[in-house]
Amino acid sequence: MTSRLDGPLKVTGRATYGADNNFPGMAHGYVVLSTIAHGEIEAMDVTAAKSAPGVLAVYSPFDPLALRAPTSSLLGETWVPMQDRNVAYYGQPIGFVVAETYEQARDAAMLVEVSYRALPALTSLRDGLATAEDAPPAMDGSPPSLSVLADGVESIEDALAASPVVVEATYATAGQNHAAMEPHSAVAVWDSGVLTVYSGTQGADLQAADVASALREEPASVHSVNPFVGGAFGGKGKTSIPTFLAAAAARALDRPVKTALSREQVFTATANRPATVQAISLGAERNGTLNAIRHDSWSATPMDRSFVEPTSHGTSREWYSTRNLAISQKMVPLNIPPTTFMRAPGEAPGSFALESAIDELAVALDLDPIELRQRNNSAAPPGRDLQWSSKHLDECFRVGAARFGWSERTPQGRTDGDWLVGLGTATAMFPAMRFPATVGITLHDDDTAEVATSGADPGTGLLTVLSLVGGESLDIAPEKVTPRLGDSSFPAGGMSGGSTATASAGSAIMVAAPRVIDDLLALASSPGAPFEGAEVSYADGRVLGGGASMTFGEVLHAVGRPSITATGSSAAGEEMTKHSFSSFGAQFCEVRVHRWTREVRVSRMLGVFDAGRIINAQAARSQIMGGMIWGVSAALHEGLETEANGRTANGDLASYLVPVNADIPDVDVHFVEHPDTLHNDLGARGLGEIGTVGMAAAVANAVHNATGIRVRHIPIMIEDLLPE
Ligand code: MOS
Repeated sequence: MTSRLDGPLKVTGRATYGADNNFPGMAHGYVVLSTIAHGEIEAMDVTAAKSAPGVLAVYSPFDPLALRAPTSSLLGETWVPMQDRNVAYYGQPIGFVVAETYEQARDAAMLVEVSYRALPALTSLRDGLATAEDAPPAMDGSPPSLSVLADGVESIEDALAASPVVVEATYATAGQNHAAMEPHSAVAVWDSGVLTVYSGTQGADLQAADVASALREEPASVHSVNPFVGGAFGGKGKTSIPTFLAAAAARALDRPVKTALSREQVFTATANRPATVQAISLGAERNGTLNAIRHDSWSATPMDRSFVEPTSHGTSREWYSTRNLAISQKMVPLNIPPTTFMRAPGEAPGSFALESAIDELAVALDLDPIELRQRNNSAAPPGRDLQWSSKHLDECFRVGAARFGWSERTPQGRTDGDWLVGLGTATAMFPAMRFPATVGITLHDDDTAEVATSGADPGTGLLTVLSLVGGESLDIAPEKVTPRLGDSSFPAGGMSGGSTATASAGSAIMVAAPRVIDDLLALASSPGAPFEGAEVSYADGRVLGGGASMTFGEVLHAVGRPSITATGSSAAGEEMTKHSFSSFGAQFCEVRVHRWTREVRVSRMLGVFDAGRIINAQAARSQIMGGMIWGVSAALHEGLETEANGRTANGDLASYLVPVNADIPDVDVHFVEHPDTLHNDLGARGLGEIGTVGMAAAVANAVHNATGIRVRHIPIMIEDLLPE
């Protein structure tokens, strides 16, 4: 259990985030946003803005910064502003004002006059359902619609019709904003032909490549720096608008440029989690055995169709053993701000629908919801031959039920004075993946080591993981290991996303460490070295041979080498052809609904998780706890509201609700620890995102247990719980 190494810097304000960087002669940029949801910009009058105090430049589609949309294999194309006059959503970046100070830039931006030719806008998911389109293939390449049918079964409809008990319902989840504490921002500085961008991102090397491509510069001439990231959650996966604009303006003006979005701008000028509608049908035998699952999903999508929330693929396809399965994933193009990955994309909203439906089936069968889940536990994803590498979901439920006092639950809940009290549960799953990552390990002659990779620690604890796994792999104390992250000049670490970073970077460390130790031993026994010609070995940070031993620092010192470095890479490989990989969890929640005011209070929460080996118990608990709180937030607080004209009605942290301390009780987090060495040598599977999966359903299921009212959309509002 190790406190995170960057904790003291962060809580004392000494951690330097992107916008904390300042340079002599730095100018400030302010982004201008559209005020219609669909149409064309006919004209922009920038005369007054250009002559306002301190203004250096006003860029617009009529006088744009030269940018081209970069493409990455992982995230696809990233849109860049001002390259045409089209407006596809309210709050779209359409201009950029640069001035001597932030206030001057902001004031001048207010003087820009835009004339539009407005076109009809489609902004409501419900209105758009009729014009839904098939989604593109999921990230794993599978088509939007899939079905797996038992021999002799003609269709999913037949399978459902043949099921003695059927539950059918439609669920909806609201759009969400990542609401990271650090708004998207950038400082860009050109120096001797090299551009350095300081900007929070989930992957410094990816951001550097994006900026180089957008500016048509050589990759080597762009350097991206982000040692600290003030929250990301998927919202800093793609390079953000401020980064492109600051970089291009710094080049055009030959001055350092800083730009930061206001909180309100973050809601439209970055990207959100889309709203979804999901229809689920479950067919079961009377004993609870699932015979058929049908899950049809609709995801709001921006007009460029760049991101679909993969709810059907994420949940029904994997979670339960069933002979018959049919899923479909549709997208509904709307005039809404961009959408993107947000913590547990697919699984978070998908699990609300599926795990609510399973609870409804338990009610219909008069069966305990945990018993129903255990009867349908899958040994492998339906329709695939590959068994789970390691699955201890049953143990999660068993341990959780005992810890939570599940046996005291009654199907009708209970009352406590004026409070209606209910318990709910849900399954959590999130696929365990690895992305390619390279890590460099350096041994220094002062007996310290460095572990460096360009990836990011957006609050997940990766920095601390590097020192822990580095120390373990080098057989030295973690305090002797300096971890380095967030700089594109380090070995390419790729994306901190998809709950992959510990497994990806950790595996790469386990490749790099033996290499640097081999290099050390070769050096130690080379001609003229202290162990010349001896049989040498390495343990405990020391070279051993011929009855003598020296620390690695002493060896390096003796041979006159201040340091030696080796790199190691790791990517998901052959293991993916042998097993299916997922983390698992059981979520529990107790809610109290007030008899008269109908307010919902979460009074107890427990999550029990199977994520393989736990590297740092403290950080793991924090990750999961944060995710569970996200689940409560999705269930009871968060939801983007769009006005008919496409304006985001609650784009600020006063009206876009997230829970505060008073909304959250003690959170109990427990791990059943079974190292998964089939997944990687470290034995660790991801746990960044699974904490939020299932929790919203557990809350809704608890609300049903307390009140008898089934709410099939989130967030759940007081008006949803008015008695009949
Ligand atoms: Mo996460 S939504 O994969 O950054």
